[in-house]
Amino acid sequence: MPDVLLVYGSTHGHTVKLAARMAQVLEDRGVAAHVHDTRTGSPPPPSGYDAVIVGASVHGGHHQAEVLHWVKRHRARLNEMPTALFSVSLTAADKAEESRRATREYIDDFLDDTGWIPRTTASFAGALQYREYDFVTRLVMRVLMRRAGHTTDVWRDHEYTDWDAVERFARDCVAMAAEG
Ligand SMILES: Cc1cc2nc3c(=O)[nH]c(=O)nc-3n(C[C@H](O)[C@H](O)[C@H](O)COP(=O)(O)O)c2cc1C
Repeated sequence: MPDVLLVYGSTHGHTVKLAARMAQVLEDRGVAAHVHDTRTGSPPPPSGYDAVIVGASVHGGHHQAEVLHWVKRHRARLNEMPTALFSVSLTAADKAEESRRATREYIDDFLDDTGWIPRTTASFAGALQYREYDFVTRLVMRVLMRRAGHTTDVWRDHEYTDWDAVERFARDCVAMAAEG
């Protein structure tokens, strides 16, 4: 049974759901998923695992610093093994060319900053979790979303994630881990 380490960062909890869905797909296919949220402490080193999946969400144009630090620290080992990166953002929900470019740049910046070369990368649309935000964040997001043409209904959360795409990515990671 291959062992896959899944390390992720999340600020308001949506990436937790993506990581859980991926772990389920891995486990259903006989792969042991070792899931680590960087908010709970530094994840273990990648040695000893057959593959590594790293995920992070974008806030103010950047992914979580703890995830970048962990990848930088283990870059040499990560570059020798099967690895995958996924990024969660709101621009990924938008088909306009400007948003597509921004979505690509989030990934490019992550790879430039860390020097890591994963075998595969993916961007997934995240969620607007108005109910999770504190007062100021809710206000700021409402203004930004109005400008971007997204919903300003702050009384509920809004999810844009394509779960089929998340499951496809997880299945690709199963194949990656099996191939070695
Ligand atoms: C304060 C704040 C800033 C954000 N900044 C960006 C951004 O710069 N670009 C983007 O595409 N999405 C941005 N988002 C959207 C998040 O990436 C999206 O809500 C994602 O689902 C968050 O995942 P998480 O709950 O795992 O942190 C922002 C969200 C918040 C609340």
